[in-house]
Amino acid sequence: MKKYLLHDEWKIIEEGFNPEYNEISESCFSIGNGRFGQRANFEEQYSGKSLQGSYVAGVYYPDKTRVGWWKIGYPEYFAKVLNAPNWIGIDVQVDGEVLDLATAKVLSFRRELDMKRGVLYRHFIVRMLSGKELEVTGTRFCSMANNEVGAIQYEVKPLNFSGLIQFTPYIDADVVNQDANWDEKFWIGIAKAAKRRSAYITAETKKTAFQVCTGMKFSLSKNGEKVKQEAVQGIEEKYIGLSVAVNCEKGDHLVLHKYAGIISSRYYDKEQLMDRCVEVVNEACNTGFKKLLKAHEQVWTDKWKEADIVIEGDVAAQQGIRFNIFQLYQTYTGDDPRLNIGPKGFTGEKYGGSTYWDTEAYCLPFYLGTAGQNVARNLLVYRYRHLPKAIENAEKLGFTGGAALYPMVTMNGEECHNEWEITFEEIHRNGAIAYAIFDYIRYTGDWDYLQEYGLEVLVGIARFWAQRVHWSEPKQQFVMHGVTGPNEYENNVNNNWYTNYIATWCLKYALEAMDFVQSSKPERFGELLGKLNFDEEESKKWKHIIDNMYYPEDQERGIFLQQEGFPDKEIRTVDTLRPEDRPLNQNWSWDRILRSCFIKQADVLQGLYFFEEQFDEATHRRNFEFYEPLTVHESSLSACVHAILASRLGMHDKAYEMYLRTARLDLDDYNNDTEDGLHITSMAGTWMALVEGFGGLRAAADMLAFDPHLPDKWKSYGFHLRWRNHFLHILVGRDGAVLKNNSGQPLRVKLRGNPVEVPANGEVGF
Ligand code: BGC
Repeated sequence: MKKYLLHDEWKIIEEGFNPEYNEISESCFSIGNGRFGQRANFEEQYSGKSLQGSYVAGVYYPDKTRVGWWKIGYPEYFAKVLNAPNWIGIDVQVDGEVLDLATAKVLSFRRELDMKRGVLYRHFIVRMLSGKELEVTGTRFCSMANNEVGAIQYEVKPLNFSGLIQFTPYIDADVVNQDANWDEKFWIGIAKAAKRRSAYITAETKKTAFQVCTGMKFSLSKNGEKVKQEAVQGIEEKYIGLSVAVNCEKGDHLVLHKYAGIISSRYYDKEQLMDRCVEVVNEACNTGFKKLLKAHEQVWTDKWKEADIVIEGDVAAQQGIRFNIFQLYQTYTGDDPRLNIGPKGFTGEKYGGSTYWDTEAYCLPFYLGTAGQNVARNLLVYRYRHLPKAIENAEKLGFTGGAALYPMVTMNGEECHNEWEITFEEIHRNGAIAYAIFDYIRYTGDWDYLQEYGLEVLVGIARFWAQRVHWSEPKQQFVMHGVTGPNEYENNVNNNWYTNYIATWCLKYALEAMDFVQSSKPERFGELLGKLNFDEEESKKWKHIIDNMYYPEDQERGIFLQQEGFPDKEIRTVDTLRPEDRPLNQNWSWDRILRSCFIKQADVLQGLYFFEEQFDEATHRRNFEFYEPLTVHESSLSACVHAILASRLGMHDKAYEMYLRTARLDLDDYNNDTEDGLHITSMAGTWMALVEGFGGLRAAADMLAFDPHLPDKWKSYGFHLRWRNHFLHILVGRDGAVLKNNSGQPLRVKLRGNPVEVPANGEVGF
């Protein structure tokens, strides 16, 4: 754990330069706007530890798989998010000496991410090797108001000298991915143009042939006067830099504004890219930094109005939740069903920026509660569009007849993960995709979705499960062998309770969905029956599985078994581990982890979270009390689910501990891996931990329910929630809670178990 970032309600602050943590800071101070994102790399050159990262939504590269032993069924490619052309670079030289914070003496340094405004700010004073001292202030943002624009204001002041300061703002498409399997460069230069103060490079990704035109235009002023001299062009194959050198006196104030355009062929014809980029950049430059910033800030102001959570009495917790919300909205804005939410968003390369089950299991509730219904719907439509590929994926593994296996990791619907224990075995992901449809309809009441898209997906998924189970003669029940549950610290197990449970749940839900479509829209149902080639025999087979599935249990302990044979392990709790063993995945051999009883993330407990109402409280408690003490929470997705379950069981200290762990996972680098990028998908889990955990929010039977609890340390907390046509606000304080209904229709809710009507534009205390 690290504690070098300062606590503040609205800002993330690094005071004093911490070069050893620079990559962590680059992750934490990342900015983005749903279309592109940028790690907090410095504008000027930096020869110290750094992971350069600019990312453009939906632009990826299928890197050829690299494995020792090839297995049939492995995908040939691993799609990775690409480090895209650098648009932030501004080299600075002082009388010929390059400004580099790794070689200069840093006299003062402050980096701030202002989450209220969506702005990254940096201020530092350095003494260069020559003894010359320079004060620099950088301000930058990725515009939320115009998602093709990034802007930088870079101010420089010579403090103790007069001399020549040269600026070289540049565009560089000669970039690499740190995780390239074959040290290959993924971008080919296609076109470039440079004119006076602007430069444009169009680059194309190998194989996928996405094109991105990255352009810039800059202006430079000294003491408020425009510097007019011509820029000297430095042009290489995939690089254009434009240099201007200015004679300065001590105390002069130099301001460089750099406007960037990032235009991708996902939104325009390739032939139009450069023209469009020129247009965007010119417009940004004409608008000017101040006005652009104002429009950008306004979008954040509006977002916060709907999505902010206010915690009084605990700055660390307040900063944590805002950081999570802020990063989620920088990653996904929900207007394009081709996009999704990578576990690292736009903040790192690891996990390839691809889509995981994280979206359905963790992110969906956040967007349901804080954004318009279409945002969550787009996340579901994304999977609907991938259904043909999911059927192909299943066929590659030997399944037939329209069975669909959604990938563990994907960019375009194809599987692109190649560890056998995950690709072939971590199939519970299929369940989460079905569960998301259920969750979405339960929350929104949008039954049309089922008729239009959902049912087809559910049938494909159900068909997969029906073929994946087999009949066990000795047990006289259906079983499922060779799986990996959500706890990836166990592989190739038989009868993982969670997977067996969600498999039969999917079969049941698919049958219910069929009945619903049949009765509500018979003509659509007839159409689908034909399209899906579904008959009575198939539904009988599903029912047989539903009625005869095996679920491993430990009768004596009264718990569900994570998998058959689990109690044969040497059972010891996490508190018996030595601190130097943690995290296990960085200190123990894989073999040792697999044989141990230690659990990476919620597994049985994930099932209890999803299907809460199907089990009584005593069952919840017994399972929680057995499994949580064995859990190392080494997946970022772990703490939030545990926080919710602990809250429900009244284990408030545990819930609070888990909440802080998820809320500040990256800010405090709990798992020692923030340098790779932020855990974006688990950030939605933080929201769930607060709203479903402390707030006790449940959505069932067309009615919301709240059963809030206030953590001891807090004075109060308040959150907004969208529910169907209602905009709600819940405030929980020491003297009780207040639910405000900010909409023109009354609302029926359950408050602490009692049904109540909250008047239109009125409130109820409880
Ligand atoms: C977790 C998975 C998750 C993935 C991406 C892994 O560490 O075990 O459940 O899908 O990270 O977040």
